[in-house]
Amino acid sequence: MALQVELIPTGEIIRVVHPHRPCKLALGSDGVRVTMESALTARDRVGVQDFVLLENFTSEAAFIENLRRRFRENLIYTYIGPVLVSVNPYRDLQIYSRQHMERYRGVSFYEVPPHLFAVADTVYRALRTERRDQAVMISGESGAGKTEATKRLLQFYAETCPAPERGGAVRDRLLQSNPVLEAFGNAKTLRNDNSSRFGKYMDVQFDFKGAPVGGHILSYLLEKSRVVHQNHGERNFHVFYQLLEGGEEETLRRLGLERNPQSYLYLVKGQCAKVSSINDKSDWKVVRKALTVIDFTEDEVEDLLSIVASVLHLGNIHFAADEESNAQVTTENQLKYLTRLLGVEGSMLREALTHRKIIAKGEELLSPLNLEQAAYARDALAKAVYSRTFTWLVGKINRSLASKDAESPSWRSTTVLGLLDIYGFEVFQHNSFEQFCINYCNEKLQQLFIELTLKSEQEEYEAEGIAWEPVQYFNNKIICDLVEEKFKGIISILDEECLRPGEATDLTFLEKLEDTIKHHPHFLTHKLADQRTRKSLDRGEFRLLHYAGEVTYNVTGFLDKNNDLLFRNLKETMCSSQNPIMGQCFDRSELSDKKRPETVATQFKMSLLQLVEILKSKEPAYIRCIKPNDAKQPGRFDEVLIRHQVKYLGLMENLRVRRAGFAYHRKYEAFLQRYKSLCPETWPTWAGRPQDGVAVLVRHLGYKPEEYKMGRTKIFIRFPKTLFATEDALEVRRQSLATKIQAVWRGFHWRQKFLRVKRSAICIQSWWRGTLGRRKAAKRKWAAQTIRRLIRGFILRHAPRCPENAFFLDHVRTSFLLNLRRQLPRNILDTSWPTPPPALREASELLRELCLKNMVWKYCRSISPEWKQQLQQKAVASEIFKGKKDNYPQSVPRLFISTRLGADDISPKVLQALGSEPIQYAVPVVKYDRKGYKPRSRQLLLTPSAVVIVEDAKVKQRIDYANLTGISVSSLSDSLFVLHVQREDNKQKGDVVLQSDHVIETLTKTALSADRVNNININQGSITFAGGPGRDGIIDFTPGSELLITKAKNGHLAVVAPRLNSR
Ligand SMILES: Nc1ncnc2c1ncn2[C@@H]1O[C@H](COP(=O)(O)OP(=O)(O)O)[C@@H](O)[C@H]1O
Ligand SMILES: [Mg+2]
Repeated sequence: MALQVELIPTGEIIRVVHPHRPCKLALGSDGVRVTMESALTARDRVGVQDFVLLENFTSEAAFIENLRRRFRENLIYTYIGPVLVSVNPYRDLQIYSRQHMERYRGVSFYEVPPHLFAVADTVYRALRTERRDQAVMISGESGAGKTEATKRLLQFYAETCPAPERGGAVRDRLLQSNPVLEAFGNAKTLRNDNSSRFGKYMDVQFDFKGAPVGGHILSYLLEKSRVVHQNHGERNFHVFYQLLEGGEEETLRRLGLERNPQSYLYLVKGQCAKVSSINDKSDWKVVRKALTVIDFTEDEVEDLLSIVASVLHLGNIHFAADEESNAQVTTENQLKYLTRLLGVEGSMLREALTHRKIIAKGEELLSPLNLEQAAYARDALAKAVYSRTFTWLVGKINRSLASKDAESPSWRSTTVLGLLDIYGFEVFQHNSFEQFCINYCNEKLQQLFIELTLKSEQEEYEAEGIAWEPVQYFNNKIICDLVEEKFKGIISILDEECLRPGEATDLTFLEKLEDTIKHHPHFLTHKLADQRTRKSLDRGEFRLLHYAGEVTYNVTGFLDKNNDLLFRNLKETMCSSQNPIMGQCFDRSELSDKKRPETVATQFKMSLLQLVEILKSKEPAYIRCIKPNDAKQPGRFDEVLIRHQVKYLGLMENLRVRRAGFAYHRKYEAFLQRYKSLCPETWPTWAGRPQDGVAVLVRHLGYKPEEYKMGRTKIFIRFPKTLFATEDALEVRRQSLATKIQAVWRGFHWRQKFLRVKRSAICIQSWWRGTLGRRKAAKRKWAAQTIRRLIRGFILRHAPRCPENAFFLDHVRTSFLLNLRRQLPRNILDTSWPTPPPALREASELLRELCLKNMVWKYCRSISPEWKQQLQQKAVASEIFKGKKDNYPQSVPRLFISTRLGADDISPKVLQALGSEPIQYAVPVVKYDRKGYKPRSRQLLLTPSAVVIVEDAKVKQRIDYANLTGISVSSLSDSLFVLHVQREDNKQKGDVVLQSDHVIETLTKTALSADRVNNININQGSITFAGGPGRDGIIDFTPGSELLITKAKNGHLAVVAPRLNSR
């Protein structure tokens, strides 16, 4: 997909033009390059985005011109190497959106246009990859945009960091702590409508996954004098106005407040309670909501508001002098509210406000206060109440931000990101103790900046033996010493003056200063000044030449503010307060503590020393804020003002050091550790000295000699681009290494798995082979034993059954029987049968019969009735003729037919003559008459009761079965037969000689019909038959070659029957 970008000519803004997803910002390196290139081409108009690229880098004018060009195009950020310079635009530039955050995430610092988020992301990535604590130091004078930058940074981390596994609310709390602290600690000043009147250092804790898990805030010296007094055009702390503007009616009534700030003396001193740029009402809503987020209960909110209200009521307490000029409270109403809101006894408070308790020689003495003293006591109480409440508030927020599972193991591996937003350098018409402290603080931070950047960088080159031309810069250590040195420093002298017995005043302090440090080049007073300067200095003032410019301080109030004393009886009263917050703020142990508390200046000095230590322990990042004009106006570039800031912030020196120096230095070990994978000789381990390893590595990477230098313990790389190229190469290399590691790991993993499977397979195989082997062996053993038994049995097979031959004999038997099962005869005609062993002969025979019977039975069951009849007739034929008549065998294969003549072949007359008698069988025959043996063609019919001989249409002879005495045939192959008839039957003419071509069939049927099966005679040689009454005929049969029937000379019928082959 093509990257669609919209380039605004400055090259600073790049946007993916996508109608459906307008907010999704995808920035590939292509996009970045486009931006870079166009930024270069547009350089004339928008200047360079890193001052290091300025051609005339020593010229302040060129520097300012670059700032101006960029400012004109609303490009408020510019780098000096890693330091971000920011110019307050005083207008909303819409450059802190979620898209902008996404755009700067994970991108190389110098590849995208300068931005606060680039610093934020770089710091965060350093925190994560190197696991070192980081600190972002934001400096600049009041109104330059420090607090704004801090808020944007916090927002960036809250929105882009991964959410912690537990306690996701930390992100909200981190964000929401801000409006609360601002309400109580910020105020409108001449310099800034939202000026921080306290110093803030905030730690954000990240777990090892980079998720914010907790936070901690350190606050520094709240400018509490503001509670009771404001310069013209300034306001008290925001919270008072917010409460009066935004508080609900009900709340205000409860607190006894009116909605008008003008009614409160503490709010009217600056005469500007209302400012157009501030919306107190909506701010109050935000604060109220934030209080709930940071764990305030309703009761706590109520207690807190009571205190805020009580300060306002305190301001309205008036005194009047009685006749002895002792102060008396005249505003009973206020006193009543105070009593209720602070939860103290009215009379006690009244006394404490108008009297002072002194303990002298163990005795308490009450001395009345005059009007002035009473007002002082009242204001002191208001300041103490407010400032202690502020301290309590910070503690409360810290408890809510504290990581909830500090015990968990991940806690130990947390890293910390510090954000320092401390009040900026400030100069007013009247500067007092507070400005002195604030400016001293800025001196310290400038000193730290010098130490960490300019000085240390130069010292490092020296220590590393890198050829180097020193850059001159102003070291403000001398001013720091002037303020903080022991015995000789301003703070020491102030403390001394506060503590010494006798009449010490602000003016005696000034004198002491003049005495002690009169020769100091950065210190001046009216007395010490020359004629010309003296005019600009009052007698009660001293002037310090700060790194950021001259500031004249008025000593009035220095001693008091430094002592910060609260009368004992006021303290006692507050210790008895029923308001839980006051109870925590005023501790009774304070009353019994005899030791004098540290002075304010010393406390502040100590806390600053601590802060410096904290910051030194972390990797620093810098944001240098510049204020373009004093009028808080957008688009106005006040060159004088800006030049001044550029000067005192040391930006030019910073740039010079940067240009002369090297963009990047790194210990050899660390450098080698990070990049060793890029060179085959150093990867995976380098055995020699790290320095040599680095030398090999950079040679392999192709660094040119002018691009780097080798120091004693570090490598110095001159240009960022060299480093980028190396970083890019590392990124690519990492990918391939990761792939390789993955591949190796996968290979290893799968090989392990494979080996496991293989081992298992071998195990199963061997077990199975074992099992198979054992089975086979057992089988062989069994086989051998069996064979042996068989042989033994075979030898003894004829012996009587004994253990030795039993097996053999049984085997023979079973194998015969099993064999038999397979070789049974297939049908009845199959006579095969296996030969049985001797012991089974009988059984075999029985089995054979059984088998045969079974087959027969089966056969019989399967035959049809017609076939049964056929067989029955055949059986009868066999019984009669088998082995007796020569042509019988020929008849066996021919089927008997139910009748040889159909109804059509028999004359209807004959049928008529037979009447109802059915014809069971009819066959054509030849009849030989009894005398001449003439052959005549006839039909032979069988009825249920008689044999009928038919000639054409005439029944020639009827022989009832009862009269049929027998049938005679010859044993030869002729087909003649004689039916013997009862002689007594006179109707009969004698026996009948007939010849049938189907003699066996005809005779069998006739015998069956007439029930004369046993009456068939088969004769050899001749048959005698009755030829008529008293006369017998004889038929002689002789075998011959062919059938011949003739009348012989002896009057016999001679039949020559052919010899058949079968005989
Ligand atoms: N980056 C910025 N964009 C827009 N306005 C800004 C920016 N930085 C500062 N301002 C304006 O300047 C005012 C003062 O800034 P602030 O951060 O409070 O100053 P400081 O903390 O340095 O005294 C803010 O209230 C805001 O109106
Ligand atoms: Mg601020």
